[in-house]
Amino acid sequence: MLAKNNYGVMAVTLSDIKADVGSVAGHVIPHPKQIKSIKEILKEGAKSKRINDFFVSRVGDDIHMIMLHNNGEGAREVHGLAWDALSAASEEAKKLGLYAAGQDLLKDAFSGNVKGMGPGIAEMEFEPRKAEPIIALMADKTGPSAFNLPISRIYADPFTTSGLVIDSRLNQGFIIEVMDQKEGTIIPFDLPAELHLYLAVIGDVTKYTIKRVRSKNNELGTAAVLSTDKLSYIAGKYVGKDDPVALLRAQSGFPAVGEILQPFMFPTLVGGWMRGSHVGPLFPCSSEESNPTFFDGPPRVVGLGFMINKDQIVGVEESPSVGEHKPVDYFAGEDFQYAREKAMDIAVYMRQHGPFMYERLPEEDMEYTTLKQVLEKILKDKKVSVE
Ligand code: F6R
Ligand code: MG
Ligand code: MG
Repeated sequence: MLAKNNYGVMAVTLSDIKADVGSVAGHVIPHPKQIKSIKEILKEGAKSKRINDFFVSRVGDDIHMIMLHNNGEGAREVHGLAWDALSAASEEAKKLGLYAAGQDLLKDAFSGNVKGMGPGIAEMEFEPRKAEPIIALMADKTGPSAFNLPISRIYADPFTTSGLVIDSRLNQGFIIEVMDQKEGTIIPFDLPAELHLYLAVIGDVTKYTIKRVRSKNNELGTAAVLSTDKLSYIAGKYVGKDDPVALLRAQSGFPAVGEILQPFMFPTLVGGWMRGSHVGPLFPCSSEESNPTFFDGPPRVVGLGFMINKDQIVGVEESPSVGEHKPVDYFAGEDFQYAREKAMDIAVYMRQHGPFMYERLPEEDMEYTTLKQVLEKILKDKKVSVE
């Protein structure tokens, strides 16, 4: 754990642990009883000081638990609490006969850390500044590499983040840690010096994801963390979607909120739509509006903003109390309507391809992994050799 910072404030850890543990009428929306059971358990966790504060949100069928504490990354007490909360929501789903109850909980017993057990995790320990604005980007019906392009724009493109040119702290650049999904190895890139090499790697969204971004300014530390686990690599087969989350610190030496949000005006094409096997545009929307309806999509992204004030989370709620926060829902409202309309045009265009690539993902990237074996078996008997 980090010591106290320059302002004499204890280092804090922000953890977003998320999972799909069942939903109503398709892979669409969790039931309110699931959210209620999660809140009850996390409130108990706050009472017993395992966490300081939290709020619960959702995008599509994924429940996100955003928790503030002082236990560091990968802490047993926090991960255990999150596992208990998700297990309770999963039980609730089973009782209510919800769809895909318990989907992302791949193991039966908790063994110290939820990593590799199914839920997605983005966690960062840092020394909070005097004012600490945070953005959580939560996506549904896509995979961890959905953020490769937007995050690259935010930290490496001066045409997006003008602070890279104008602000002397941003001007020093960032280290972006890239993960090789299959090997599980990390490759750090020093930006902007290694920009071209970085783009050569990160542009391959089938292999690489961004794990962490660090400021090169000594005082600032971690800028962003992302969840990177691919569920099918954990389970060895398709079991559900590894819909990702990113946590980003904003302003005062980090990209401004508006610089972080700008890339989402462009509906990036991402993999993971319908059956984890199609390509679609990233559709920015509010949490409320995040029910995936058109061909189980299009892939959604929700952006939530809140402050960290010592051991408290502060949103726009009238009377803050533990677990009951109302973050700013950035993609609600008119501004991003432009991107939504554009995304729908692209979505309809992509769907005209039906089962043809590149609307359908190439075989090795499809989440439903049995097609290859089925086809091999059937085609073996049907094939006739040509003279
Ligand atoms: C994608 C997703 C859905 C399902 C699809 C089929 O992440 O969750 O698109 O893949 O609805 O679901 P099953 O196989 O449960 O019938
Ligand atoms: Mg689901
Ligand atoms: Mg989902």
